[in-house]
Formats: sequence, structure tokens, C-alpha cells
Amino acid sequence: MSEFETLLVDERPDRLAVTLNRPQARNAINLAMVRELHEVCGALERRPRLLLLTGADGVFAAGADIAELLDRGRDEALQGINSRLFDRIARLPLPTVAAVDGYALGGGAELAYACDIRLATPEAVFGNPEPALGIMAAAGACWRLAELVGGSVAKQVLLGGRRLTAAEAERFGLVAEVVPGPELAAHAHALLDRMAKSSPAALRLTKLVLGAPGAHPVADDLAQAVLLESADKRERMTAFLERRRSS
Ligand code: COA
Repeated sequence: MSEFETLLVDERPDRLAVTLNRPQARNAINLAMVRELHEVCGALERRPRLLLLTGADGVFAAGADIAELLDRGRDEALQGINSRLFDRIARLPLPTVAAVDGYALGGGAELAYACDIRLATPEAVFGNPEPALGIMAAAGACWRLAELVGGSVAKQVLLGGRRLTAAEAERFGLVAEVVPGPELAAHAHALLDRMAKSSPAALRLTKLVLGAPGAHPVADDLAQAVLLESADKRERMTAFLERRRSS
């Protein structure tokens, strides 16, 4: 992958660990970061791997870059600059994890909402203060947050300006686990290690089916039909049965 201006990328055989890295602007998401995150998505679409997203210097991301937002208008909104990126991240073939330390506000929170699983430190804060700036959270919060925590809490955040602490986020199910800051990266990588042991095809199809709206038994059956025919499944199940026989 190329050198990035706004991201640090740790590329491993089974994962990309990406750190949002504009600490001077609290990792605010500007156009350069959007472009670079699209590049990361392209790499993960071409060669599916797990994704770990985190932020530098004790902040996840303090939102979209307000200096850029000031000059954006109707045409930029209709381009869906952040919403299309976050949708692309949400649709990545393999699971994504956001490791959130400090502020995840505005577009930063929406980026975390677009990931499959979130871990946090006790210092994490989730919020959508967009209306205070005269705009709305238009990159997924208005539906993803409600799906994640329910309509009542989502309205408290989006309309009432409520900021969720890490403990509250965990209680509402937004966050899977709260771990001390120095342990965040290790915990996140341990979660990815567990996922990396599963069949990538099974994870990929589970994620695809999980994202389909409503009840979808036909899609489930078709996905399972693909997996039941795979050599990987035969190897994994045979290994399980042989281990039992030999013990
Ligand atoms: N866009 C652009 N710049 C931002 C930014 C954003 N979303 N958030 C922070 N910055 C910049 C500040 O302008 C400041 O720049 P400067 O040093 O050139 O003055 C720098 O980052 C540090 O910010 P500061 O507010 O001094 O840091 P803090 O640690 O005291 O507070 C926050 C951190 C996140 C609470 C605060 O920066 C904040 O409220 N940011 C905006 C959050 C927001 O409304 N997001 C929604 C955007 S739609």
C-alpha cells in the first residue's frame, strides 16, 4: 500500500490495522482521509482481510473536518462524501473492529457505528453534536445508531445531545467491551486473532446474510449451500472429528 498522509497502516497477512492520524485536528476526517480510507477499502475488497480501525493520541475522531464542512454545500452533501465511505466500510467482505479511545464524535462516531464490533477504553465518549453546528448527522447515525442501541437512546444522542460514556455504551450494547487504554490494541488484536481462526468464507457469507434486511431464510440456505460444498469445511470438520477419535 502507498504512503499515507492521514493514516498509519500496519499491514499483516490476515488484517490491516489502520490508525487515523491527524492528532493536531483530533483526527478530524478531512477529504484526504476520506480518499485514503477509500484506498484501504479498495485493498480489502481486492484481497479480503480483517480491518482494525483506531485513532492516534487518545482520540478516535472528533468528527468531519469542520473547516472543510464550512464551505460544503448542497452539491457536496449529495455526493455523500462520508456516507458513501462509511457504507463501503460497512460492506467490507470481512469483519471490521473499531477500537475507540477518547472522543468519537460526529462523523467519528458514525465511522465507529459503521464497523461490525466496537471496543472502547473507559475514556471513550460517543456523541453526535451535529445539530449544535447547524447540520445533522447524515452519514449513517440516523439509522445505524438506532439499530445498534434502539430508537430511544438514539434520539437522546441525536436530538438531546447526550454523550455516551464508555460504560453507558457498553450497557446499551454499542460497545462489546471496555478495556484500559494500554490494553486496547492487544485486546482488539486478540479479537481479530479469534476471528482469523474461523473460515474467511464462512465469516464473509455470515456478514453478507446478517446485513440483509428482514427475515431471509432463502439467502441463509443459499449461503450455507455454498459453505457446505467447500473443501475448507470438510477439512475443519474432519480435523474436529479426528481429534475427538484420537483423544
Ligand atoms: N474539525 C476540524 N478541526 C477540529 C475538529 C473538527 N471536527 N475537532 C477538533 N479540531 C481541531 C481544533 O480546531 C483545534 O485546532 P487548533 O489547535 O488549530 O486550534 C485542535 O483540533 C484541537 O482541538 P481542541 O478543541 O483544542 O481540543 P480539545 O482536546 O480541547 O477538545 C474536542 C477535543 C473533540 C472535544 C473538541 O475539539 C471538539 O468539540 N471538536 C468538535 C467536535 C464536533 O462538533 N464534531 C462534529 C463535527 S460534524
